[in-house]
Order: sequence, then C-alpha cells, then structure tokens
Amino acid sequence: MAKYTTADQIDLPALAQRYELGRVRLTPLVGGAANSRFRLSCASGKFVLTILDSHDWSSAQRLAAHTHAVFRLGVPTTEVVPAVGGALITQLGDRPVILKKWIPGEVRQPLPVPHLPEAGRILARLHALSLRSLGCGDIPVGARRLSSNHMAEIPRFADGDFAAWLTDWLDRVRAVEAENERPSRVVHGDLLVDNVIVREDGRLSVLDWETISLDDPLLDLGMAAVGLAQDGGVLAPRRLDALLAGFGDVAPLSDDDAAALPMEIVHAALIIAFHRYYRHNVRFPDPPGAPSTGRWSGSWTRWRRRLHCLADKRCDRARRSLICFMLRRPVWPGEPSSASTARASLRERGPSGAEACGLRLTATKSTRPLGVSVGG
Ligand SMILES: Nc1ncnc2c1ncn2[C@@H]1O[C@H](COP(=O)(O)OP(=O)(O)O)[C@@H](O)[C@H]1O
Ligand SMILES: [Mg+2]
Repeated sequence: MAKYTTADQIDLPALAQRYELGRVRLTPLVGGAANSRFRLSCASGKFVLTILDSHDWSSAQRLAAHTHAVFRLGVPTTEVVPAVGGALITQLGDRPVILKKWIPGEVRQPLPVPHLPEAGRILARLHALSLRSLGCGDIPVGARRLSSNHMAEIPRFADGDFAAWLTDWLDRVRAVEAENERPSRVVHGDLLVDNVIVREDGRLSVLDWETISLDDPLLDLGMAAVGLAQDGGVLAPRRLDALLAGFGDVAPLSDDDAAALPMEIVHAALIIAFHRYYRHNVRFPDPPGAPSTGRWSGSWTRWRRRLHCLADKRCDRARRSLICFMLRRPVWPGEPSSASTARASLRERGPSGAEACGLRLTATKSTRPLGVSVGG
C-alpha cells in the first residue's frame, strides 16, 4: 500500500508560520492517487496543500518549478505559493510539500461536452510552448512512455495472458511509431478528468504537472482522448470530435496526424493499462484477506485504501469484465482520406473494428476514474 499522510501528522502551526497564513483549517481532499492533499482555509484565502508522498526532494522541486513555469506562461493552472524566503517546496516531517492556490470550481465527471473543445485548445497551446520560454532545462524526455524498467516487469506479471496481450500490442504500436516520428513538444501526459477543474467562471484549469515531458503531441492527445472522450467507458465519437475540434482550432491535424491518432489513442490506453496493473497488483497489491466490499467508513485514507483493493479485484477480473468497453470505432473529425483508410483497415478485419484486431480495453473505475485496465 502506498504511504499516505493523514491530517493528524501535519504540524499546522509550523506550516502556518512557514507560509505566513495565520490561523488555518485543514480538510482532506479526495481525488488523485499518488499524493496526499488537503484544502487549507485561512483569512488570506484557500489553498491546496499537497504532501508529495511519492516524490523525493529533487523530483518535488522539479514538479514545483514546472508548475510555476507553465502558470507563468499563461497556461490556466494552479499557482504555486512560495514559503517565506521564496522556496516553492518545503519539508514536513520527512516529506516534501507544496502549497498551491485553490481554484474555485469542480471536477466534473464526465467533463461536459461543451468544455471539451477548450480542453483541446489548452492542450494544443501547451504543445506550442517552446522549451526556451519555459525556462526549465530539466523537462524529461518521453517520461510518459513505458521505460525499459517497466517493460522488464511485464513478463513477470502473474497474469500471463495480460502480459502477452500487452506485449503484443506494444510491439504493434512500436512498429507503427518507428515509421512515423513526430517532433517532440512539451506535453502534459495525463489530461484526465480529475486533472481538469471547471472553474466558477465556466472556464477550465488544468492540474497536475507530474507527467510533463517532451514527447509526441499525438500521444498526449491520445491520453486526453482516453481520459476525457469516453462516455461510460466507451470512446464516444461526439466527445472525441469536440476535443479534437478545439485542438484543431489551435493546431489543425494534418491528414497524416489524423491517420496516426487512433494508434496513439491505443498507445495511451496501453500505458494506462500497464500502470494500473502494476500499481494495484505489483507495487501495492491487495493485502491477503482484505475485504473488497462492505461499508466504507473511517478516515479518507482508509476509504481510499479500500478503493485500491477493489481496483485490484477489478483488474484481476478484467476479462470477465466489470465496466468493459471496446474501442468500437476509431473516430476522428473531418474524416480526411488517409484517416478513412486507416479506419477502414481496422474495420475490414471484422464487424467491430478494434475488437477484431484483438484490441479490447477494459476500464475500471477507481481512484483514477479513467484508468484503462486489461482486456482479452
Ligand atoms: N489548486 C487546486 N484547486 C482546486 N482543487 C484542487 C487543486 N489542486 C488539486 N485539487 C483537487 O485535488 C485533486 C488531485 O489533485 P492533483 O494535483 O491532480 O493531485 P495528484 O497528483 O494526486 O493527482 C484534483 O482532482 C482536485 O479535485
Ligand atoms: Mg491528478
């Protein structure tokens, strides 16, 4: 089980003094999976305090610098609040913490269709940022892709069928990508619904720069498609069109890009599938005998732990399938001819397109609501 921080472990007076906040009130926040976060209210306003449980000091500092940099460049996101003396990251116990301004609004699941074009536009504008303007020399390259260490884990997965399925599809993706390299851009890497706030003024803000990297913008768009354009677990043409329409307002897709996008959506789904399985079955496996049902009570940490356990079970049963979906139909707007050809090539293999290619993705609802798990 991941180690999360609870409210009683936080030295509130020390924290308030460090950020000159006066008297503060702390409320745990749900959402996200990697860190512990709290809403902090005081006379000077509302903030989010994130205990970066999954970070060491230097990765925490990078996260803060990247968040600060994109905010400074006008990307609608949260503002990092420095401590007295200017540090963007401080230490609480043995963990790094970051304080950010609260964005009034809500995470809406699913993100309503009228907001999807704006999400697409924000993503395309991010891709247009130059590294130089960002002013951070340490943006990782291709960090959202499965690393060689990740790949080495796959053959060890207890679920051999899933491992074979994943390997097979990753090989196909690699073969296609090898023939179509695109210039890298600054990408978000995780534009899922819980990283988007619909603000009170009706506009969007994007959170969570943990996976910022330099990479193929189409893979990033594929991530956003998996994260934002599904409806009840199915990639929804109307939603995808809305997302892509906004993206295209800022960065119109070429025919080649439109043709390449379905495979990048698949690639994104495979990456998420890997991480879900790895997190819930390898890194933080279900403790033996842990209950998977029953009344959820107690602290939010316990509640979240139960949710993880349930997610484990769901991963294991993926093929028998809970919330199961297929990419029934790769869809993209405008239907340029090369895209139509790509779609036809998927379709002609069988009546339900991607399913007939062996592609079947299963979404599981858990702390990462849009995670895509395994399929048969
Ligand atoms: N600045 C903020 N304003 C309002 N809500 C926030 C803010 N930061 C985080 N949240 C809430 O916390 C959740 C998780 O935040 P996020 O930064 O994505 O953390 P994680 O890295 O754990 O996913 C979000 O889905 C949102 O509900
Ligand atoms: Mg998040």
